[in-house]
Amino acid sequence: MSILQKSYGKTLEGDQITEFILQNERGMKVHLINYGAIMTKLFVPDKNNEFADVVLGYDNLEGYLKNPGYFGATIGRNGNRIAGASFEINGVTYQLDKNEGENNLHAGFDGYNKRVWDFTVNEEENEVVFSLISPDKDQGFPGEFKVSVTYKLTSDNAVSIGYEGVSDKDTIANMTNHSYFNLAGHTSNSILDHILWIKASKFVPVVDSAAIPSGELWEVKGTPMDFTSKKAVADEIDADYEQLKFTGGYDHNYALDKRGKEQELIATVEDPKSGRKMEVYTDLPGVQLYAGNFINGDGDVCKDGVVYQKRSGLCLETQYFPDAIHQENFESPILKAGENYKTTTVYKFV
Ligand code: GLA
Repeated sequence: MSILQKSYGKTLEGDQITEFILQNERGMKVHLINYGAIMTKLFVPDKNNEFADVVLGYDNLEGYLKNPGYFGATIGRNGNRIAGASFEINGVTYQLDKNEGENNLHAGFDGYNKRVWDFTVNEEENEVVFSLISPDKDQGFPGEFKVSVTYKLTSDNAVSIGYEGVSDKDTIANMTNHSYFNLAGHTSNSILDHILWIKASKFVPVVDSAAIPSGELWEVKGTPMDFTSKKAVADEIDADYEQLKFTGGYDHNYALDKRGKEQELIATVEDPKSGRKMEVYTDLPGVQLYAGNFINGDGDVCKDGVVYQKRSGLCLETQYFPDAIHQENFESPILKAGENYKTTTVYKFV
């Protein structure tokens, strides 16, 4: 186990950014930067012990300063959408950025994915702890939120991402990681033949292409949304099904079949050719399956000189359901003043 630190250049404001390379005994490597608390690279062995980088990203800081698709990024204070970009807590209305039509996506224009995070390195645990003080009214949210994100690489090939935080006012706390995985290697251009399983018998339907939930939960059974039995992403992603038409492919939250707030295995992803397999564990109620439908290969040269195409990578973003703040029957994303926000998601390679 080791952690290497390197300079990753400077932001336009002159902040020095650091890259961290975590390695384990089995040769797996995770690259992180303290800009956006982003996971930039993830080297994972295949069935012949050949390593490939399985996450989409950029070669340098310049790429991450733009990063319109949130490659590898830490999303906060709220992941996913808030309808009308406003909400009420304790009788007070708070206004957020309208950065996706009338709505708020991933907390707005100045997301935590654009912040320079403080860091501490814990060599013994093979982990890096990124921390941020998000002031009262930051992005429009109430309360000073002191938050940390801990990335740990374990000896059994798991990347654990732990979030902790505390706010001095009732607020929304719904952090997630926006890594795009392609288990065939990030240069391989498609995740369509990846085999997916999601432990969810229900999903969160959306009203239209703005992808705001209606507030219902629908059974996946008998629909293309069903991943309760393993199937390839390609099998039904282009099915003539209104929910998929709205979002141009999978971009939906799954209501996980969980026993409670304990961490559980909630999804697996397999690439049949390379034999790589990823397990996802979380303690959260939902996961957004996003199949990279909006990646458009618009000439943006990314890591290793690759121009990514539509569906080059897929995200499994663990979270509270989208727009939960407006839906009484969705588990509340409110963090009470003085209470501890604590949640962990693990991406394990087996
Ligand atoms: C999330 C959303 C998608 C898309 C991506 C970023 O996953 O659900 O609709 O906006 O972020 O491109």
